[in-house]
Amino acid sequence: MSLLAQLNVRSASGTRPQKAALSDDLFEQLRSFIYDQTGIYFQDNKRYLLESRVGRRMQALNLPDYGAYLRYLNQPAGRAELPKLYDEITINETYFFRNTDQFSVLEQTLIPELAEERMKGPRRQVRIWSAACSTGDEPYTLALIIRERLQPRFPGIRFEIVGTDINTQVLDVARAGIYSAYAVRNVPPATLQRYFRQEGDRYHLDPEIRRMVTFKHLNLMDRSGMALMRHFDIILCANVLIYFDTASKQQVVSSLYASLNPGGFLMLGFSETLYGISQAFQPVRFEKTIAYKRGTSHA
Ligand SMILES: C[S@@+](CC[C@H](N)C(=O)[O-])C[C@H]1O[C@@H](n2cnc3c(N)ncnc32)[C@H](O)[C@@H]1O
Repeated sequence: MSLLAQLNVRSASGTRPQKAALSDDLFEQLRSFIYDQTGIYFQDNKRYLLESRVGRRMQALNLPDYGAYLRYLNQPAGRAELPKLYDEITINETYFFRNTDQFSVLEQTLIPELAEERMKGPRRQVRIWSAACSTGDEPYTLALIIRERLQPRFPGIRFEIVGTDINTQVLDVARAGIYSAYAVRNVPPATLQRYFRQEGDRYHLDPEIRRMVTFKHLNLMDRSGMALMRHFDIILCANVLIYFDTASKQQVVSSLYASLNPGGFLMLGFSETLYGISQAFQPVRFEKTIAYKRGTSHA
């Protein structure tokens, strides 16, 4: 049976459905579906964005209107559509060495302190998670810093870096490790020269650095998937909670708390804060950035 027939949709035979308008009611239904699944809340002023991006999926499936698309999403067969919907609706802006103040604190203070402490005990590893890593620029920035500046100081420590995102397309880019000039514009020239091979206008990251990061598909709102992420020393969760409302921020931050080792650190984006979201962390202030330290209590 065709998709249209399954959805009980009538269309003029053989013609491609015209793009329909998004009614107020369907906008509400779509935004609450997306919110429930991902935590992303489309404000009223982002309605046009939702309309055009979901419109692309509707057309790809040859569905006549947003109502038919919603019915499809709610069918068992629609489960396979979810990753494609997420690929359309997420904003993936990122670049190497984006938040330089944060990377300086990680390089000069937080990671060396952890590594020194680990050198004294049996567990000689430091585990770092870039949660919502987009095309991998953030975890690879850490890999470059570790490879160049920290691994030589702490040769006995194993540094593990994991990058996760809900968008499967950006994870494919991350695994391939090929970037635009725009993405690498902040990479220090000597690092660029040493660890990237330029081919035309594309920059290919050295396989040695690529092997330092493991990528995984993960929705921050998926409680069971989040429960598998455990024993991290540092979590970067930058420039993603801005798309969430307070309730979903609270759920994600509580999951991240559980993912950290006692004494571990959570770092957010430049414009983000835990104020009004969680009191479980102890803010540790540096000159231009804040790290949130996990105590030993529950969130
Ligand atoms: C603006 S990018 C930020 C990338 C990087 N952290 C940085 O600061 O440069 C936001 C990323 O969050 C991801 N994202 C949005 N909602 C998510 C969710 N519920 N679970 C996991 N990732 C999500 C998007 O796919 C996107 O790649």
